[in-house]
Amino acid sequence: MLILGIETSCDETSCAVLKGRDRVLSNVVSSSLFRQRPFGGIVPEIASRHCLEQIDVVFREAMRAAKVRLSDIRLVAVTQGPGLIGSLLVGVSFAKMLALRLGVPCVGVNHLEAHLETPFLKGKCLGEIPKPLTRPERFVGLLVSGGHTILTWHDGRRVKRMGETVDDAAGEAYDKVAKLMGLGYPGGPVIDRLAREGDPGRVRFTMPKQDHPYDFSFSGIKTAVLYFYQKHAPQCKTARALDQLRRDIAAGFQEAVVDWLVRKTLALAKEKRASDIVVGGGVSANRALREKMTAEAANEGNRAFFPPFSLTGDNAAMIACRGYDLFRAGKRSPLNMAAAASLPLFA
Ligand code: KG4
Ligand code: ZN
Repeated sequence: MLILGIETSCDETSCAVLKGRDRVLSNVVSSSLFRQRPFGGIVPEIASRHCLEQIDVVFREAMRAAKVRLSDIRLVAVTQGPGLIGSLLVGVSFAKMLALRLGVPCVGVNHLEAHLETPFLKGKCLGEIPKPLTRPERFVGLLVSGGHTILTWHDGRRVKRMGETVDDAAGEAYDKVAKLMGLGYPGGPVIDRLAREGDPGRVRFTMPKQDHPYDFSFSGIKTAVLYFYQKHAPQCKTARALDQLRRDIAAGFQEAVVDWLVRKTLALAKEKRASDIVVGGGVSANRALREKMTAEAANEGNRAFFPPFSLTGDNAAMIACRGYDLFRAGKRSPLNMAAAASLPLFA
């Protein structure tokens, strides 16, 4: 069965064709980052205009690359939410139009749920040697993106939300820390790179105390970085010294954030006696997170699954996969389905 996936929740426009639940025949992504960069963050109006401009060309390219006929598509899966309403509307309208024209069902997908499918997708077009992984039934899920940081528990039948950030998301903290040090947008990749050349011992951040063991908080560390940077940057006499300060702060910041993410995820896995951990979302591209989570999970005899780098960001392949599962479970979305800026998780 061929599934067409459509994703326009934020600043990316993506279409993908899947054969069955996990074989990716094509996954085309057009990012509006080059238009957002000058503004230091996502401007919703620019994002939605980009989606509107790109959706048709991205769809055609996904069909061409998959080498399949449009009349062979049996299901259209689309991101219904959460996200920016203007961007979501583009994908949802396009998907409904296409489903109506092809006479096939349309299924609305929760974008966040879809991120947790990415480690198990396969296909030459993903740019990495496909690993023969099967999705576990029981696992701890860690969703880390620019807008969300959520821990979930999947017991094979139901999904429970176990914890989340009470303020900034992990990716948002990366973006804010990079911005305050004048490192541009998005902050994740640049901090990840600089952290590898810095000394994490120069500034250490302590984990905030929280009532709930599986909640996160990242706004305090951002403020601590701000004060440290404002105090030490004026003392840097050379550009080289300032660069080193940025690298050391990046290293200390990243060590703390990764440590909190890994510690809480493993604690939940221990509580649930789960042997598998699934990580998804933009921050899953972080190399330190991948290394530490994989190593520490292995120490406990557990496995940590991460997506291929081509699927860490927003993409339509994961939407098609999640849409297929929902379709198999009987879900059909009516053609008056509305895009939803916020949407409950695993409802
Ligand atoms: O999932 P995503 O593409 O978009 C949504 O927010 O839905 O995530 C984007 C976030 C940004 O905050 C970006 O800075 C972060 O993912 N990110 C990273 C890395 N690459 C992207 N954070 C840490 N390390 C990275 N290597
Ligand atoms: Zn996302």
